[in-house]
Amino acid sequence: MYQCAVLTISDRSFRGERPDEGGPLVSRLLTDAGFSVAHTEILPDEQADIEAALCRLADSGDFPLIVTTGGTGFAPRDVTPEATLAVCDRLAPGIPEAMRYASMQVTNRAMLSRAQAGIRRGTLIINLPGSPKAARENLEAVLPALSHGLEMLSGRPADCAKLPR
Ligand code: MTE
Repeated sequence: MYQCAVLTISDRSFRGERPDEGGPLVSRLLTDAGFSVAHTEILPDEQADIEAALCRLADSGDFPLIVTTGGTGFAPRDVTPEATLAVCDRLAPGIPEAMRYASMQVTNRAMLSRAQAGIRRGTLIINLPGSPKAARENLEAVLPALSHGLEMLSGRPADCAKLPR
């Protein structure tokens, strides 16, 4: 079972002005898919704070997966993708490509998410949009492939040929 962290990025939720619905939903979806959500946190839309949290969690070695929700759009304070890019050693562009491809079947506003995914050391970091609906649709598009990616990331031999499509 892979241990993961879920970060909600929202000024309003951080200030307690809006209940965090996205974070708990993402945690539930991950738990239902067999992941163990061991850490959740609400952060403001501050690039330095987001980078610090991503580095702290990734560098602890305890979290093969970190999922963020929020701050991927075009608003001036939407900086989650920039924070993610700043801390990753390697990018995993196929993940946001798959999320946007699937999401475009639902709404053409999917193209407005600037979500990124990448790897820092042994941790895969994935950005999701902030609304619970968008977070769910994006996460569900990539969830089935994640454990195979995490298996490869851990260095264990992973048999690509054996897996379902
Ligand atoms: N993706 C899906 N699947 N469903 C959605 O409703 N909303 C879009 C997009 N991606 C949406 C989606 C919208 S309207 C925006 S602005 C962006 O995600 C960014 O969202 P964020 O700023 O909350 O991160």
